[in-house]
Amino acid sequence: NFIASDIPAILKHVRKIYLIENNETVVLTASSVKIYNAERREVHREVFNVTWDADAAEKEGYDHFMLKEIHEQPKGIRNTITRRMDEEGNIVLDGIRMTKEEIENFNKVYIVACGTAYHAGLIGKTVIEKLAGISVEVDVASEFRYRDPFVDENTLFIAISQSGETADTLAALRLARSKGCPVIGLCNVLGSSIAREADATMYTWAGPEISVATTKAYSTQLAACYLLATEFARVRGTLADGQYEHLVTELEALPEKIEKTLADKERIQWFASKYANAKDAFFIGRGLDYAVALEGSLKFKEISYIHSEAFAAGEMKHGPISLVENGTLVVGILTQPDLFEKSVSNMVEVKSRGAFLMGLTTYGNYSIEDTAGFTVYVPKTD
Ligand code: F6R
Repeated sequence: NFIASDIPAILKHVRKIYLIENNETVVLTASSVKIYNAERREVHREVFNVTWDADAAEKEGYDHFMLKEIHEQPKGIRNTITRRMDEEGNIVLDGIRMTKEEIENFNKVYIVACGTAYHAGLIGKTVIEKLAGISVEVDVASEFRYRDPFVDENTLFIAISQSGETADTLAALRLARSKGCPVIGLCNVLGSSIAREADATMYTWAGPEISVATTKAYSTQLAACYLLATEFARVRGTLADGQYEHLVTELEALPEKIEKTLADKERIQWFASKYANAKDAFFIGRGLDYAVALEGSLKFKEISYIHSEAFAAGEMKHGPISLVENGTLVVGILTQPDLFEKSVSNMVEVKSRGAFLMGLTTYGNYSIEDTAGFTVYVPKTD
């Protein structure tokens, strides 16, 4: 007899499974399985016969792990947020072991990571600066570790890593610690090296990520950055009246909004199939949307093997626009109301060079269809 937290873990050995409910206790011996409820009364449970093979079970019916994990984003974000909230709707940073005075006294935050986690860090920078009013630097770990960076005991160092094992990020963390920085590890894998070596760990609860190209871990890293920024802002007193409650409500609404976006997938797949033979694709945006463009472009090239670059939308005219030819796919990301018109004007510029435009914006911004040939809408958030 085996006990496990998930069916795939034991499917190689058994086919007959008892599914255990919350608050039940199981007494497991080599020859028997007894299940008791919270009142300690034995309960009868039907055997669940698993008919699928281990491979299909692991992918839960999806064609591949990346697709499965894309669909697990709402759950991962919900877990990451609810594990950091108390019943009154307050963010709790238990285990971060940082006093109010320490949070008030940081004069700088340094976020260091690689690849996609670095892109999450770019978003973290924007929200921590904007909400908590602390200056934030973001660096790729392989640069930071050879740079002799200006950090000291008043610099909060945050290492972001899904695996918690990336060698450059780990080396950067060790360097920061040697310079006296308090270190938070923002990791997904429990007990990983970064989680062990950081002064405190803030876990993302994306669940195991099997796909090499990260998706749900990135989303949960963003949620974790927003939680940190909002709580730092509360402690430092930089929020307006009611803003804390508003931000928490917005965070809690995210999983449902992601579900709505995923529901549009067939239309997106249809568009993707039309551009599957593209030679190049460019992603442009401003502010937060630029950070998202960098991640979109990385994921795009990593998975499709199509050449892709991301640019700050305002930089297109300073050189990169010369790469745009008739039919080149340019994805414009425009989710922030105050930057919408600016980004549209950059899209018009590339369109005049013959680009085919895809827009990614929030519901309600339908005027984008005057400019873009195809648009994906996402729900509005703060
Ligand atoms: C891209 C991707 C990589 C990782 C990077 C850091 O899809 O997965 O860019 O984000 O290698 O890995 P972690 O987060 O494990 O440190």
